[in-house]
Formats: sequence, C-alpha cells, structure tokens
Amino acid sequence: MNSAYDWIEPELNRLERVGWYRTPKIVQSPPGPVIEFNGQRLVNFGSNDYLGLATDPRVIAAAIQACQAWGVGSTGSRLLSGHKQLHEDLEITLAQFKQTEAALGFSSGYLANLGVITALVDSKDLIIADAYNHASLKSGAKLSGAKVYEFTHGNLEQAQELLSQHRLHYRRCLILTDSVFSMDGDLCDLPKLLGLAEGFGAMVLIDEAHATGVLGPTGRGSVEHFACQGRSLIQVGTLSKALGSLGGYVVGSQLLVDYLRNRARSWIYTTGLSPADTAAALAALHLIQAEPEHHQKLWQNRNLLAQSLAKLPPSFPLKLLPSESAILCLQGETILEVQAMSQALYQAGYWVPAIRPPTVPRSRLRISLMASHRPAQIIGLVEALQAWTV
Ligand SMILES: Cc1ncc(COP(=O)(O)O)c(C=O)c1O
Repeated sequence: MNSAYDWIEPELNRLERVGWYRTPKIVQSPPGPVIEFNGQRLVNFGSNDYLGLATDPRVIAAAIQACQAWGVGSTGSRLLSGHKQLHEDLEITLAQFKQTEAALGFSSGYLANLGVITALVDSKDLIIADAYNHASLKSGAKLSGAKVYEFTHGNLEQAQELLSQHRLHYRRCLILTDSVFSMDGDLCDLPKLLGLAEGFGAMVLIDEAHATGVLGPTGRGSVEHFACQGRSLIQVGTLSKALGSLGGYVVGSQLLVDYLRNRARSWIYTTGLSPADTAAALAALHLIQAEPEHHQKLWQNRNLLAQSLAKLPPSFPLKLLPSESAILCLQGETILEVQAMSQALYQAGYWVPAIRPPTVPRSRLRISLMASHRPAQIIGLVEALQAWTV
C-alpha cells in the first residue's frame, strides 16, 4: 500500500536537482571571527554577531549568574508564572535604548513579527509590504488574514500607488518592511515611508534585526540613522544578532505594548524568555551603550571591505550590490557559480555563505562583518576573491 508520506522523497530529490537542497554544518568552535568546521579553521564572514558580544566574558558571566539565581528555564508563560524582574529590566532598558515609551520581549524575532502583525491586522485590513521582506514578516502577513499587496523592492512610488488604489477599501492598514534588508544589506528609505504612511493613515512596522547595534551614530538602529525619533512607528527586532543572545522584541508606545500583552498570541501562549538569554541581552545592551568602540570598529571593518570590494576589477564575475549596512553581497549569474565560489573560499580558509533561491531571487555571496574581524582577515578575503578575476 502506498504511504501518505511517499511524496516526501521525490520532493527532496527535486530540491536537490534544482540546487535548493540544504543541510546545516556543525560548527565545532565558539562563535567569533574564526570558526571551525570539520576540523578546518575558517575566517567567519557568515555571522550576525556584529559586535562580537556573543562571546564577551561579561555577557557570558551575566548568563551564568542568571542561571544560578533563576534556574535554566522561566517555566511558564509571562502572564502565568514566567514573568521575572529580569524581563522587566530588559524591557525598560530596550525602551530606553530605542528611545520609545515601552518594549516587550518575545522568544525570538520571528515570533515577535508573527505576534505583532497578527495582533494588529486581520481579514478586514490591508498590508502593503516590500517584496524582499524577511520570511517572518511574510509569514506574519499571511497568518494575519489581511489582504497583502507587495511592492517591488524599495519602490515606494509603487507602494504609494497601491495605497491610493486600495487604502479606502480597508479598515486598518499596516506597512511592513525590513529596515536593513537581510539578504541585500540595503536600507528602506524610512523618512519617505513614514511620510507616505502618515498621508494614508497607515501604521508602519519596521524590522530592525540587522540595524540594532549597527546603524545610527550610537547603534540605536535605523530610526536613529534617519533621525526619525519621535515619529509614530512600530519597531521589531531580535536579541540574537548584535546583542549576541536569543529572543525578539517590539518597541513603541505604552499603549501598543499594553495591547500586545493582551493580543499577541506568540507572546501570550509561549514560555517566557529564559533567564540566561534575558540577562545576556541586558548585559549586551549595557555594553553597547558604555563601550562605543565596538560599533566604531564594526564600521571601520565594514568600510574597509566595501572600499576593497569596490576596487575589484571590472572583469570580476560577481556584482557588488548596493549596501549601507554591515552586510555586503556579491551577486552571481547562476546558483552553481556562486556555490563554486563559496566552496573555493572555504578551501582558501574563508566562510562566506552562498545564499540561493528560494531565499533570494538571484544567488549571491553574503558577507557579514564583525567588530572583531582583523583588517588582515578582510584584506585576505578580498585577495582570495581576486583569484576569480577573469
Ligand atoms: C530581518 C530579520 N527579521 C527577523 C529575523 C528573525 O529573528 P530571530 O532569529 O530572533 O528569530 C531575522 C533573522 O533571523 C532577520 O534577518
């Protein structure tokens, strides 16, 4: 008899045939600018630990202390028995850092996006979204039941047309965008988007996952970068990138946070963030503010790489995509070409992941910088890339 699961193997075979099949590699070392795979040490350009705080001894000590004082798990949802002083402290500090009235911590950035979007809009409402948004924004939009229209990446003129055409037919409207696009490194034009939203009575949610700790003179994110403090908007982010820990958050008005505590299902019906993750994120937030040198170092490294890549000869086969963040991408013609380059860099001692469809429309090498990279490691990567000049 045929099994109901017989379709899985041919589907996996299909993924393999088109080059979409993926498996994780075991990392055999702590995170950092150098990591070990299969016994080979590689300079790591595939990390989100932008400021190197995931291994900062003070962040680690905060996590250990929290485990010793509060146990390993928070053992309940936040509205039952899982709400601890540490959660309060983290949320107060996040709100201060982001210069908003209030903050709410979630178990991940993905869950924050799901919870916030589905709490704000439903089938009576409209979502206008950038086509390159992160998967968690797309999943949240779908799950909400709202009517979703996507505009081509960065095309705010098209967003305006969509709003003109459809806004009046729906109760609420929510505009969704990454602030730093995670697979490209470019930015959403936030002042323009906020102006548009204000004109159409639309809410705006930006995903600050790759902006927090990175953008703005003091790393507060794209709102600081574009001097949009005080404007009405909702910022979602993660504790798992520049903050080096695990978890997600939303920051905004006190009313918004009070509402989400009552309506965001991925916050209400899940266990509170663990004491270790919460304390680590809190310690990282203090360090970002007390030690601006991590942020400065990240930008020195990022600018060194951007300048060096811009000098690659015209015959270099990959195209450097526009970026204003700590993510720099080199786009190729085919999956196989990009995979071959990632593999060759691996052999040369550099970990630069190849990002392929369906994550992105066209394959690319995605390079992310850390404050803890040494200039020689960055120059070494560019020299290794130069070997591909035809
Ligand atoms: C833009 C963006 N949003 C959300 C997330 C999800 O965050 P988390 O890893 O905390 O679930 C990520 C990455 O993981 C991301 O890149």
